[in-house]
Amino acid sequence: MPLSLAVLVSGSGSNLQSLIDKIEAGLVDGEIKLVLSNNPDAYGLIRAQNHGIPTAVIQHTDHPNREAFDAAMLDAVADAGAESGAVVLAGFMRLLSPVFVNAFAGRLLNIHPALLPSFPGVHGQSDAADYGVKLSGCTVHFVDEKMDHGPVVIQAAVPALADDDGNTLGERILALEHRIYPQAVQWLAAGRLTIEGRRVSLAPPTEGAAAPADMSETGPCLVNPPLERGF
Ligand code: GRF
Repeated sequence: MPLSLAVLVSGSGSNLQSLIDKIEAGLVDGEIKLVLSNNPDAYGLIRAQNHGIPTAVIQHTDHPNREAFDAAMLDAVADAGAESGAVVLAGFMRLLSPVFVNAFAGRLLNIHPALLPSFPGVHGQSDAADYGVKLSGCTVHFVDEKMDHGPVVIQAAVPALADDDGNTLGERILALEHRIYPQAVQWLAAGRLTIEGRRVSLAPPTEGAAAPADMSETGPCLVNPPLERGF
């Protein structure tokens, strides 16, 4: 049975697109039951509709507080048949309350465009570029009630160049986001991730050692755990 997924977006949804593409290619054993947005203009909603995926818009401004907003989103996820599955945050720009986080504990992933715990928050790419770091990257992590904080599943590091700004560094990072996020979702779908405290361990695939991904067209980067074939 594929893992039922709800994907929460607020904007462009390019990470949603990479997940859709890997599911359609048979590389991620998941089924997106719902794409949910707090922003009616999110392009991610169009991407979902282009692939026949149900969508919903729930605006935080229609709810008196975070808890009520989160409860409405949980209802939508359940109505879509994804309550026993996992939730994937893909550029979702609202902090979830314990109402939502606890309901999906261990089944709730986020991607952040920096090497956590450095540069949390909404400007991870430009904060890193402005700080003058020599490496930055992206992090997929389980979500807890603190922003950009939960146990780390996978990280990818890329060089930050002397003339980078948030946009140029962000582009380099985004290309790797599109690879590590579907990989993390597939590990979750395959039941290969175990959380112990802050540490996430990855079990080998049941069919034996995983073949490595083709990194020949990729610029300089370090990904750990390594990407597997197809990602
Ligand atoms: C990505 O950079 C992601 O890391 C961050 O928000 C951005 C979303 O981009 N959380 P997209 O909507 O997936 O294109």
